[in-house]
Amino acid sequence: MPQVRLDKFISERSEYTRSQIKELASKGRIKVNGQTVKKSDAKIEPDADTVEVSGNIIRSEKFRYILLNKPEGYVSSTDDKDGKTVMELIPPELRTKNMFPAGRLDKDSLGALLLTDDGDLAHRILSPKKHIPKVYIVKLDKPFQSKYIDIFLQGITLSDGYQCMPARIMNVENSEKLAFIELNEGKYHQVKRMFAAAGNHVDVLMRVSLGGLVLPEKLGFGQCMELLHKDVENLFRPLDFEVFCAEFSGIFSAFLINKYL
Ligand code: URA
Repeated sequence: MPQVRLDKFISERSEYTRSQIKELASKGRIKVNGQTVKKSDAKIEPDADTVEVSGNIIRSEKFRYILLNKPEGYVSSTDDKDGKTVMELIPPELRTKNMFPAGRLDKDSLGALLLTDDGDLAHRILSPKKHIPKVYIVKLDKPFQSKYIDIFLQGITLSDGYQCMPARIMNVENSEKLAFIELNEGKYHQVKRMFAAAGNHVDVLMRVSLGGLVLPEKLGFGQCMELLHKDVENLFRPLDFEVFCAEFSGIFSAFLINKYL
């Protein structure tokens, strides 16, 4: 099995720099297979050895995938010049140096946001050609009108003349202001602008699925979880919009009802 340097292994999978790793090792804070290793240039076998830094196990996988249920008030960026960023919500033991949000939600939007350090995967999910569908639940200012279904399906025209791709929408049963919408593209403020073009206004917007990856009910606003390989693959699985709405309308409307209604 190929061996790599301990400091390279740790620095690629954490926020620690090589000089910090050297210092941590000299202080006896790094263990390999339970044994303290004081030299940061020691060689290890990534797939076989267990590496711990200050008691936290460093996972051997090269890339990390985090699903965050974004709360309002955080920008989807690594740069804090515009305020608090979603990076602050990721605990240090899950963060890596090159991690960034793979996609955007507005500062006041909620819900599913993927963060990763896997640039190739981010490119695959963000590239317009391979765009993966995304489902949102919205709370509207005025009641949902059934005419929206056809207007959105035909491809609504935004106020700047942009012709949107066909989008499916469905109102949530027994709730006149809640609706699901599935988008196959990702323009700036798109959902809000689509409803504005239809004469309504989005008060609250929450993304509830990325491709076939559905936001888990247990993940409250501001919480995140590490995704396993099979969850990441779900991003590229299709999702049946109607089945989704029927199955999840109770769960996701509860998120909004508990918070806003
Ligand atoms: N559409 C919007 O208008 N805002 C978002 O955050 C995402 C999609």
